[in-house]
Amino acid sequence: MSRKIVLTGDRPTGPLHIGHLAGSLQKRLELQDSCDTYIMIADAQAIPDNVDDINKIRTNIFEVACDYLAVGLSPEKCCIFIQSTIPQLPELAMYYLNLVTIERIGHNPTVKQEVKSKSFKNGVPAGFYLYPLYQVADITAFQANFVPVGKDQTPMIELTRDIVRKFNDTYKTNILIEPQAIYSKLNKTLPGIDGQKMSKSLGNAIYLSDEEDIVIKKIKKIKSDPLKISVDDCGDPDNVIAFTYLDIFDKDIGVVNDLKNRYRQGGLPDRVVKDRLIEVLLSLLKPIRENRKIYHSNRDQIYEILKLGTNIAIEKAKSTLNQVKSAIGISYY
Ligand code: TRP
Repeated sequence: MSRKIVLTGDRPTGPLHIGHLAGSLQKRLELQDSCDTYIMIADAQAIPDNVDDINKIRTNIFEVACDYLAVGLSPEKCCIFIQSTIPQLPELAMYYLNLVTIERIGHNPTVKQEVKSKSFKNGVPAGFYLYPLYQVADITAFQANFVPVGKDQTPMIELTRDIVRKFNDTYKTNILIEPQAIYSKLNKTLPGIDGQKMSKSLGNAIYLSDEEDIVIKKIKKIKSDPLKISVDDCGDPDNVIAFTYLDIFDKDIGVVNDLKNRYRQGGLPDRVVKDRLIEVLLSLLKPIRENRKIYHSNRDQIYEILKLGTNIAIEKAKSTLNQVKSAIGISYY
């Protein structure tokens, strides 16, 4: 049996945070051992809402690559590359555009949400509106079976599955593969320290690169249950982000359950919960931060890894594009 293929990616708009770690990096680490894994830094997808800040994208390509390597994604096991270096991707998207309606593209809850939060001044750029379609090209170019992503990416995977079915149906072929999303144990997006979506612009993210004192400062900002006014009051752990984080990152479920029970009964100061969270997150992030520093000081090595990744990725994408063109019937010589 041939090995399954995994493709996933991130937009390089900021360094990666613990939401990425729980949402998809941990899953990728598992998968890189058993599957052919492609990991894309989606710089082209980051351009539509950063047209006047390409520098941010350039900088963060390097930061994200350091994050990947620091958590243990290995260039020996997976192919890490930059989206814009693979010209076959937009070419594939050009053909897929014929298999989807404008209306279907418009019905994407993630894009709708993003459009709302970004409040574009002069209307939504077409490139932004269409990015899910380009993402279909990303996924199918590598014949991915699995796409480890956060829940917010579900509409893109569904679109991919639809287009793959439509393509195979229309051109009487089976060359394109219907991918499956793979989710982590997180069943929703990990919130930021203030309970809102974790994002750079809200300043509520804990980054993999954060120094210890910063992590501690951020954890201390987490609010307690608003109904728990004094230490003796009963609290609801479900209303406290510190518990949400413990649920995800603390390997000792017994300790977390005990803290939750005491929190419910009243008498447990939030400080105790936060101290536990500080202990758990600092020990999780320490090796990552240390690895990261080493990679960060080796710029040439990082770009060498990315270049090698591009060479491998381009071959795969070319082969898919050739098959797609033959299936359509536009292969002439
Ligand atoms: N949309 C993804 C994000 O916002 C990034 C991405 C681009 C991606 N292409 C992809 C993810 C293909 C999975 C598969 O982070």
